[in-house]
Amino acid sequence: MKPSHKPLKVLVINGPNLNMLGKREPELYGSDTLEDISKRLVAFAKDMAITLECFQSNYEGALVEKIQEAMGHVDGLVINPAAYTHTSVAIRDALLLHKIPVIEVHLSNIYKREEFRHHSMVSGVATGQIAGLGVQGYYLALTAIRNMN
Ligand code: DQA
Repeated sequence: MKPSHKPLKVLVINGPNLNMLGKREPELYGSDTLEDISKRLVAFAKDMAITLECFQSNYEGALVEKIQEAMGHVDGLVINPAAYTHTSVAIRDALLLHKIPVIEVHLSNIYKREEFRHHSMVSGVATGQIAGLGVQGYYLALTAIRNMN
């Protein structure tokens, strides 16, 4: 940690079926479990003076509530809305509550896949998007949030 780093709080949100990472289409999403990924991210974040909370849900309403509850409590949000990326006006609207950096992450390159994955409801309200870089995308998102604060 650099002495100049002010402590930050960041929330990482993962959407439906990402709790199945490791078992789910490993050729596409890799063999690491979400638990392993989250543990490594927490340690990585700590080194940059970021306190990280990782949250996953398969339910749209739970994701919306988590985004709402984070208002005023975090300095940045990293979100992989998974399948809700392509459908959820509710998640998009909840993200609009925030005036902090919001980074949308996808493990796979959604633009190389089926056409229905090419549109993100979230990208129009996110600060930026990282897609196709696997787990590395989460690390890059945290680094970006660190650099933006
Ligand atoms: C995903 C891409 C989505 O299209 C898909 O529904 C997911 C994962 C990704 O990380 O590549 O569940 O968000």
